[in-house]
Amino acid sequence: MKYPKEYLEEIKSRLKVSTVVSKFVAIKKRGKEFVGLSPFKNEKTPSFTINDEKGFYHCFSTGEHGNIFDFLMKTQNLKFGEAVRNLANQAGLQPYRFTKLDEQREKDWNIYTEIYSTYIKRSKKNIITSNISNKKVLDYLKKRNLDGKSVEEFNLGYVPFDSKTFFELNSQFEEKSLKDSGLFYLDERKNEYVDRFRGRLVFPIYSLTGKAIALGGRIIEENKKIAKYVNSPETNFFKKGNNLYNLNKARKISNKYDEVYLVEGYMDVIKLYNNQILNCVANLGTALTNKQILLLGQFFSEIIICFDGDESGYQAALRAAENSLKFLQPEKQISFLFLPNGEDPDSFVESKGKEYFLKYSNDNKTQIHKFIFNHYLTKSKKTPTELAMIEKKLSILANSINDTVVKKYVLGFFLDQLSNFLPSKSNFLQNNYRFKKARSLEITKNIYKETQKFSSIEIKELSLLYIILNNLDFFYHRLDLLNDLLFFSKENKVLFQLVEQSLKNGNYNNIDIDIKYLDNISKFATVKHIVKKNDDNHSKLLEIFEDIKKDLKTYSLELRIQELESKFAEDFNQNTFNEIRRLKKEQNIN
Ligand code: UTP
Ligand code: MN
Repeated sequence: MKYPKEYLEEIKSRLKVSTVVSKFVAIKKRGKEFVGLSPFKNEKTPSFTINDEKGFYHCFSTGEHGNIFDFLMKTQNLKFGEAVRNLANQAGLQPYRFTKLDEQREKDWNIYTEIYSTYIKRSKKNIITSNISNKKVLDYLKKRNLDGKSVEEFNLGYVPFDSKTFFELNSQFEEKSLKDSGLFYLDERKNEYVDRFRGRLVFPIYSLTGKAIALGGRIIEENKKIAKYVNSPETNFFKKGNNLYNLNKARKISNKYDEVYLVEGYMDVIKLYNNQILNCVANLGTALTNKQILLLGQFFSEIIICFDGDESGYQAALRAAENSLKFLQPEKQISFLFLPNGEDPDSFVESKGKEYFLKYSNDNKTQIHKFIFNHYLTKSKKTPTELAMIEKKLSILANSINDTVVKKYVLGFFLDQLSNFLPSKSNFLQNNYRFKKARSLEITKNIYKETQKFSSIEIKELSLLYIILNNLDFFYHRLDLLNDLLFFSKENKVLFQLVEQSLKNGNYNNIDIDIKYLDNISKFATVKHIVKKNDDNHSKLLEIFEDIKKDLKTYSLELRIQELESKFAEDFNQNTFNEIRRLKKEQNIN
């Protein structure tokens, strides 16, 4: 029995090839790919490459080529089913249990798509063959500046108001299948199935593989009482949040474009397309979902979210931004394009044309983290309390980012930008009587850098220092806690040693620290809000302290691993590899 494609895709989308392979083969990043010694052959020079973006490995010396399933089958001698179970487990998925239902599902799927394609052909005919009943829709298409080419390109159709398609298709399909398609609903008064899309211009929605799986429909006569647009309801084979309008076409040209425009409506897509902007999709009238972002990320390296230039478009963009920030990756960008007030992509591209649209887009799109920052800051009155709340909110958002490199960058960006607004006098540490404010001690003065950018590790170090400096009495009695602390930056290490020494001497009421340095600690210690809140709760403080300490430990392991990996890239020595493996294990335990 075949595993459902979605299940296999889900596994693939959760596991990088490099992750799977690196459990068995030592690999090293080189450009966009990874390389290592071929597991298929004894060799001295690495000829085995892995491309995570494309989802496969390739061995240049043997010609072996495949995805994660192939890899396990070939190198671990597993059957396909065993490989699937193994990888599903790694991906955190339940093992797949086959039932008779799976067989049934495949049959149902074939019937389902057959119903849709039949329905679409019929409704398209209602536009392209002239008859008296379709004057209204032809007028409407003209009004919207849609010609026969668009009808062809998007398979647009029309469902006349008096359609009785359920009845007509019943000779060809079973009643249950027709009901399950979502194309009809039961009119309870008449006890008969009526066309859900009657009186509407319909827009077929296709799966990635190009099968019609749903419809969207727009009324063509103004009527305030009914919804302007309706979609097929969710069915066994159509989940709104898993699909994007026009992705089936856009993905095919993704080798020509780095970016894709994500817009709100069917009409927006069609009009962009008519104006030769082919790389566009729409998200079917729901809030943007995780799945949709990941899906787009598979094909394009930049998503430009271009919602309507009105309040609801802005709010939708903000929601999309907060939700998709976590998916940012070094090579995957998300940007936002705000159109002039009252415009949507449809109206804008129609009135200004392709070149203007593209230029406007280039000049005005904003990267996601800048949009988020600007949003919070513009709204705020910039009082210390509000700034503190913004800092907290932004830190939470930045910390939601999965990729550690991007997380570090975005967090740094937020804190850096915010620090421009923080009044340096009102901070916690400086008001502490223990620190002299006027004089700068030479050692700390020398090491202070005016335009310092902090890495996330340095920020952690600053956080540790922040906790210690604000709880000197406590640490005086618990010197043991300071024993195996790791500091990676020289400056912070020097300061730490100074503080530790003062504590050991019992002479910590007058530690000399450069005021700007204190300032930095206060500004950049991300823990400061929690610390302030837990001012006299030592067990909570200790918990935070231990957490950071552990992070630093993990980081030191990471550094060591990196070092060994560079070494390994040169000598391909088995001992080095074993040591890397051991450290990785330790890292996991830690
Ligand atoms: P808009 O109201 O912005 O429509 O809805 P539009 O694209 O400008 O359409 P025209 O130009 O008036 O024809 C954008 C999208 O939101 C969903 C649809 O997917 C639509 O394309 N929507 C809108 C609904 O699902 N239901 C509605 O009642 C309205
Ligand atoms: Mn519109």
